Amino acid sequence: TTKNRSAYVCNNCGAQSPKWSGRCADCGAWNSIEQVTLPPKATTRPGAGGYAGAAAGQAARADLSAIHRLAEIAPEQEVRRPSGIAELDRVLGGGLVQGSVVLIGGDPGIGKSTLLLQASAAIDANPAFAASKSSVLYVTGEESPQQVSLRAQRLGLAPGGLNLLAETCIEQILATAAAEAPRVLVIDSIQTLFTEALTSAPGSVSQVRETAAQLVRHAKLTETTVFLVGHVTKEGALAGPRVLEHMVDTVLYFEGESGSAHRLVRAVKNRFGAVNELGVFAMTDRGLRQVSNPSAIFLSRHAEPAPGSVVLVTREGTRPMLVEVQALVDQSPLANPRRLAVGLEQNRLAMLLAVLHRHGGIGMFDQDVFANVVGGVRVTETAADLAVLLAVLSSFRDRALPVDLAVFGEVGLAGEIRPVPNGPDRLREAAKHGFKQAIVPKGNVPKGGVEGLKTLPVLTLREAIDAV
Ligand code: TYD
Ligand code: MG
Repeated sequence: TTKNRSAYVCNNCGAQSPKWSGRCADCGAWNSIEQVTLPPKATTRPGAGGYAGAAAGQAARADLSAIHRLAEIAPEQEVRRPSGIAELDRVLGGGLVQGSVVLIGGDPGIGKSTLLLQASAAIDANPAFAASKSSVLYVTGEESPQQVSLRAQRLGLAPGGLNLLAETCIEQILATAAAEAPRVLVIDSIQTLFTEALTSAPGSVSQVRETAAQLVRHAKLTETTVFLVGHVTKEGALAGPRVLEHMVDTVLYFEGESGSAHRLVRAVKNRFGAVNELGVFAMTDRGLRQVSNPSAIFLSRHAEPAPGSVVLVTREGTRPMLVEVQALVDQSPLANPRRLAVGLEQNRLAMLLAVLHRHGGIGMFDQDVFANVVGGVRVTETAADLAVLLAVLSSFRDRALPVDLAVFGEVGLAGEIRPVPNGPDRLREAAKHGFKQAIVPKGNVPKGGVEGLKTLPVLTLREAIDAV
């Protein structure tokens, strides 16, 4: 029996349901459900499904899959090669892993194609990636080869042996990739691809899922590293995000405000490295330039101390980084004063203000509170708590904190200041950039202190307030 089966898939979130409806029950999107045809169910192998029967003639049957004892399997070290673009290698966990699939997401125009073209050129020039035919195959589904060539020229890249393929049919792409056997396959973008097996339009969840699945299979079978470019919809999600994120090994997201000259690439998932690792780039007319010392750029040093500004030592992935947290507190004309956080978690800000009231005795119920991380950086860790509260307090009192002060620490609901991971590392980063004092959780101060830095260890919010 090879009856075609169909299912209904939401184009926004990828959720599957047995029947059509006008609104996705999972994500709530309207008019996003589409019918897809599923491949016919594999006919059951004779005997394979029966539990009792399988036990009886186990040794004799050759069609059973082999079982291995975990203890007898030798662990295999993944093969990893640095591309030569250090910030990209950093977010990948130390270079490109053979046979891995990397999804690079981000808004249109943020720099995905630029980064991948630069990376392709670097890989192509790198003898470590030398292959029998070509080291990189760049599949362009959005731009013509002429446009890519123009871009390469503008970026000042040496074209070398870089191979381009302008194609969007996955069957054609895989046939070409099989013949060329490149070490690295770049797909720009996954939303332009289609498989002949499906009738839906390119970019629909069923197409994205099916073509990506075929590319993942290809990567694993041929040990090719595959980069998939994925555009983010205006709601901030990749088309079919659940589907794609689960299928690939590594997910990188481009961050950064469109007006800012910096681009951050964050690893939000990585089977081969640390998550939240951050690669920092500066945008120039000759492409993305690596920033190996991000503290230096995100820190706008004020000549004069400014109220509402606090320097936070955050840690993204494996690297400590200094960023400036700003707050503005102002008398509110509204019955419900505003709380707005940019680059920080909104709910966390509301919670911190409650802690400040309850345990610090300072109420903000008639004040608008705005908080912002300078430079378009997004801080996701709780170590920012104390810096945010001190910035709020500094603005509220209109009293500036010393310019050579750095802060980090988590604030608990009981008003306690909790230690955060890698305290000494953060303190050393602050000292390295010329900071002279630091208000930090008591548990984070190493025994001998940190050279050149006066630490002010605190256990409670009260102590922290008294310290400033
Ligand atoms: P592009 O890489 O095409 O973005 P995406 O592939 O994510 O849609 O970049 C968009 C535009 O910005 C493009 O015209 C090139 C320009 N650009 C620079 O001039 N310098 C840069 O460093 C970057 C990243 C982009
Ligand atoms: Mg592009």
